[in-house]
Amino acid sequence: MTRPIEDLGLLEQLQPFVLSHRANWPHLNLEPLGVKITDTHVFDPAQLRSGRLVEGLLRLDRLTFARQAMGMPRWVLYDCAAFPGVVVGLGQVTSEMSDTLQRAYGVRPNGAFLPLSMWAAIPCARPGAWFGHNLSSANVALPRGERFPRLATLTKALGLAVTRATRQYGATQWESPALPLHRRFGPLHLDAAWIPAHTHPGSLSYHLDLDEAAIRGALGPPPARPDQVDMTVDAADTDALHALQLRLEAGQDWSLVGMTDAPDGRTLLLRAPPRLPAA
Ligand SMILES: CC(C)(COP(=O)(O)OP(=O)(O)OC[C@H]1O[C@@H](n2cnc3c(N)ncnc32)[C@H](O)[C@@H]1OP(=O)(O)O)[C@@H](O)C(=O)NCCC(=O)NCCS
Repeated sequence: MTRPIEDLGLLEQLQPFVLSHRANWPHLNLEPLGVKITDTHVFDPAQLRSGRLVEGLLRLDRLTFARQAMGMPRWVLYDCAAFPGVVVGLGQVTSEMSDTLQRAYGVRPNGAFLPLSMWAAIPCARPGAWFGHNLSSANVALPRGERFPRLATLTKALGLAVTRATRQYGATQWESPALPLHRRFGPLHLDAAWIPAHTHPGSLSYHLDLDEAAIRGALGPPPARPDQVDMTVDAADTDALHALQLRLEAGQDWSLVGMTDAPDGRTLLLRAPPRLPAA
């Protein structure tokens, strides 16, 4: 039997949900990390019943991504995530929501279930691989004392377990506050370090190779200090990021194994592939 997840505090207040076309359901794990997703919280975007949940997801997206100029049109949520892939999150019935949250969502207590977090992902052509397309948490709208600790981390962990992903691809900005969160799931193997094709070229593309231990590990203590660092890069140094991109395009493998955040900026800790022992 699957070991139940340790993070029960959050799961006592919030209920997990899954939004995905019903043809996908038999291929998903609807008891991720031992957490049963109740039938009423499994939604099909092609059915009327999912309308209110989708409204809530778009509200959450506006709260979290609008200021980064990456707000998600409704059709993108449907075509690029909810139908072909999954949206996994945690939510609450409006009548149980704090006044601050009700104000942030512009709702009154009416018994509707609203999402407070989401991890949206799209399956890739490579078997077992998924692209994480959105991670957001209502914590951004809450004062520190009212936040749900580790909401986005738990959301991503449940989402990865729902998809049964063995590899997760993603793209995020080098200076994003979410980068340490993604690093909790393992070293970030870099696929790109400077991406003119993205809205924000100062983004990285990464992949994580996953198993259940890596997913559960993200909910535990922070990753240990890396024992091997082969290069450090200032996250705001566009020339250095461009040079790293050229190294990746030349076939070199680099991973992000840590970062140090200071008031004057972020330093990225990078590792080349493990060295072969001397002959
Ligand atoms: C980034 C974002 C998703 C984080 O949401 P969140 O619910 O506050 O995240 P969590 O609570 O899971 O993690 C936040 C912090 O807890 C830490 N944490 C996570 N798991 C932990 C654990 N098991 N033990 C201790 N600390 C933990 C994280 O490292 C992070 O540390 P920090 O406060 O020093 O940065 C949210 O701020 C957001 O929606 N931002 C706007 C959209 C965005 O940028 N999304 C990311 C796209 S890649």
